Amino acid sequence: MTNSSSPQERARAVQSMFGRIAPRYDLMNRLMTGGMDVRLRKKVIRLAKLPAGGSLLDLGAGTGDLAQEAHHQYPGSRITAADFTLGMMQTGQKRSGPRLNFAAADALNIPFANASFDVVVSGFLLRNVVNLPLALREQWRVLKPGGIFVSLDTTKPRKNVFSPLIRFHMHTIIPLLGQLLSGERDPYVYLPTTSENFLSAEQLAVHLANTGFREISYNRHMFSTVAIHWARKPLDE
Ligand SMILES: C[S@@+](CC[C@H](N)C(=O)[O-])C[C@H]1O[C@@H](n2cnc3c(N)ncnc32)[C@H](O)[C@@H]1O
Repeated sequence: MTNSSSPQERARAVQSMFGRIAPRYDLMNRLMTGGMDVRLRKKVIRLAKLPAGGSLLDLGAGTGDLAQEAHHQYPGSRITAADFTLGMMQTGQKRSGPRLNFAAADALNIPFANASFDVVVSGFLLRNVVNLPLALREQWRVLKPGGIFVSLDTTKPRKNVFSPLIRFHMHTIIPLLGQLLSGERDPYVYLPTTSENFLSAEQLAVHLANTGFREISYNRHMFSTVAIHWARKPLDE
């Protein structure tokens, strides 16, 4: 994939990459983050504040970790895990059994009607989409007025005393682990590169405001390499 590739070619490359690493995706996540991702997912779902019997869309759900956590924290609600990579969803469905509802969906053209969900969450999706403003507009569209948006994603790391260590972890340890566990190095070179080139937490908050979201908040985690953003679609929209 090069910078001169078309958005469609880039999206297909992302899809094919996640298809290849799907079987080892969850294990790699646990190892790369030392299990921290599990705690962050719990936090994302707590922030969702899903009303009793409400509906939640986990967009770019991959194997459905956030959806699974939502199912756990809000039993009796309607949870949909949606992604455009079949292999990721098949791995997730095998793990969850019929408990989780998976749906094929492109985040840039979400196949649900306007105002379908009380909450839309995503984990490590936004960094991967080829058109971020469109992905945010689509999430806005499928949210009900008053609905909640929560995103967990990597963020451009700020320089601090741990920067050399973080760079070593991202550019040496992660590709090595990826190579050893999944036999694939490229996706684990893609991860640090896209993380460093992604928006800062402040910039993503500006995109949310430009989309129309209000009550925007965020906090950083894991030495400021990851951020959780949450926001609300106003009631009068
Ligand atoms: C890094 S994985 C994250 C998976 C999961 N959300 C998690 O927290 O572990 C990114 C996921 O986003 C999906 N994805 C990327 N672009 C997408 C798009 N345009 N529409 C739907 N899914 C997309 C990929 O297929 C992949 O499963």
